[in-house]
Amino acid sequence: MILRIENLIKTYGDVKALNGLNLEVKQGQIYGFLGPNGAGKSTTILSTLGLIFPQQGRIELFDTEVFRDGKYDESSLVEVKRKIGYMPEHATLWEFLTPLQTLDMIGEAFGIPKGKRAERSEELLKLLNLWDVRNKKVGKFSKGMRQRLLLAQSLINDPELLILDEPMTGLDPSGIAEFKGIIRELNREGKTVFFSSHILAHVEEICDTVGVIVKGKLIVEDNLESIKREFLRRAGYTIIVETSRPVSFDGVEWKVSPLGEKKYRIVTPGDIREEIHDFVASQRAKILTMQVKEPTLEEIFLKMVE
Ligand SMILES: Nc1ncnc2c1ncn2[C@@H]1O[C@H](COP(=O)(O)OP(=O)(O)OP(=O)(O)O)[C@@H](O)[C@H]1O
Ligand SMILES: [Mg+2]
Repeated sequence: MILRIENLIKTYGDVKALNGLNLEVKQGQIYGFLGPNGAGKSTTILSTLGLIFPQQGRIELFDTEVFRDGKYDESSLVEVKRKIGYMPEHATLWEFLTPLQTLDMIGEAFGIPKGKRAERSEELLKLLNLWDVRNKKVGKFSKGMRQRLLLAQSLINDPELLILDEPMTGLDPSGIAEFKGIIRELNREGKTVFFSSHILAHVEEICDTVGVIVKGKLIVEDNLESIKREFLRRAGYTIIVETSRPVSFDGVEWKVSPLGEKKYRIVTPGDIREEIHDFVASQRAKILTMQVKEPTLEEIFLKMVE
């Protein structure tokens, strides 16, 4: 196991930021750590890196115990952190440096020899689509370019595990798509990726596992499709149907509300798309469109907190 957290408790004064958190990240995963604002995502990440002191619980990194009941094992922590790259939530860049100078400085701090540093910087700036602007000052960079340079920084030591705290927040859709592509590429090269977000779209299409944290507790850990399916099972399917002509759903126990002359919203306890199809066909009408309405992240959170 790359990361295992057991029963972690962290309070800030009266605030219970982590309330018995359990979490497992396996080798090769892209793990999305999803939760609303204030759920405890950053607290979890800071604990994993030994940057704050939880009161109780256990943390293992690369099968090595680094934290137990209020104490870090400093020497093990230093050892495993060599294999970790970290991108903080509110990271800042040196505005007057160029990407090349930035990476050179970070590389030096990691004790990487000069020649190797230059080689690694070139490789990273090419991977992150920053090679063309390698000699431009960071001060004028867009949000997307900044996030990619911050990611490059966290990759300087060629880590096995990447921990990214809200790396896509503030990016536009094309920036998000680009960032996801890069994460996928890094994962293909063998890196395990653990990243947090409060936005469902960030974890879609990319994470094999999603953990949902609410009020300092992991309430579900599964793939996103299963999480959504479970939600639909509990909250009911909402199916929107558009037909070729008006259809009567009289006498049907589904909850139907017309959305227009030929458009209907049907809420049912299960997936009855086939039955709807037969029902509409029996009235000699055709289905023009039929869609299952996807739950929003907010709906999932609300339902799960219940
Ligand atoms: N240094 C601190 N002192 C006091 N309370 C804190 C501190 N850091 C975090 N908290 C509180 O702990 C809880 C969890 O905060 P945390 O930053 O881990 O959440 P988060 O999931 O990262 O949220 P966000 O999405 O806003 O980044 C919140 O209630 C927050 O107000
Ligand atoms: Mg946070």
